[in-house]
Amino acid sequence: MAATASNRPCRNINLDSTKLAYYPAPEPNGLGIGVLVVPGGGYSHVSLDREGSNSTLYLNTRGYDAWVLNYSVAETSPTPLYPVPLNEALCAAQHIRRTTPKSKLSKLGIWGYSAGGHLAAVTVTNPAAALDFGILAYPVISMDSAITHAGSRTNLLGDNPSPELVWQMSAENRVSNSTPPVFVYHSANDATVPVENTLRFIGAMTEHSRPYQALILPDGAHGIALALGDPERNWEGELDRFLTYSI
Ligand SMILES: *[C@@H]1O[C@H](CO)[C@@H](O)[C@H](O)[C@H]1NC(C)=O
Ligand SMILES: *[C@@H]1O[C@H](CO)[C@@H](O)[C@H](O)[C@H]1NC(C)=O
Repeated sequence: MAATASNRPCRNINLDSTKLAYYPAPEPNGLGIGVLVVPGGGYSHVSLDREGSNSTLYLNTRGYDAWVLNYSVAETSPTPLYPVPLNEALCAAQHIRRTTPKSKLSKLGIWGYSAGGHLAAVTVTNPAAALDFGILAYPVISMDSAITHAGSRTNLLGDNPSPELVWQMSAENRVSNSTPPVFVYHSANDATVPVENTLRFIGAMTEHSRPYQALILPDGAHGIALALGDPERNWEGELDRFLTYSI
């Protein structure tokens, strides 16, 4: 088959099972909804155990298929990482679509945490990814040094990125009239990734009249994943609502 411009960036992207792991639902719910999970870790490591496993467990328990992306980070790859993780996420989404029968996958979403939330946010706002929804948990949204997570920005863009690249990699600037529905979860007093990241993203969604659901709770540490077993911070019920009514 002839190469096209859209698949060329994917030609050198490795998507074997160490990069993209598939977790099929043991008992599919028949809705044909799948989710690509992108754990966080400041673009320095990938939190596969805590954020990855909690998400695949949540999804599989409810009959959704899941994939987890073990994207390139500073511990395993040369920095600045840009644009490698972006290509990996985009190519993973396209690969899942291409290799999963349409009867099994009618809708594909992306679910990212923290720096993985940044990767999910720049991917869900990329029309080439053709995603149907996004889930962003305490996401890094902006590369604006006033509110960004400094470590994530340095790992992704280096110490001295051009203002153009900073603008382009700030997900609030990428929301458009084709951005699909997004769910966002954040703690108002998150001391690692300021809640302003989420506020800017939902501000941009509002400006473009795009559908979103946001849950901002008063208190919670960064990186608590789904906060399983924590009645004050757990957000499984809100996510159930989003997946049932908003995608
Ligand atoms: C994730 O990727 C790194 C770097 O390629 C690799 O060393 C590690 O084994 C991978 N993790 C899994 C669970 O496959
Ligand atoms: C979910 O995350 C918590 C930490 O928030 C962790 O202790 C627990 O092991 C994770 N659960 C799974 C199934 O990975």
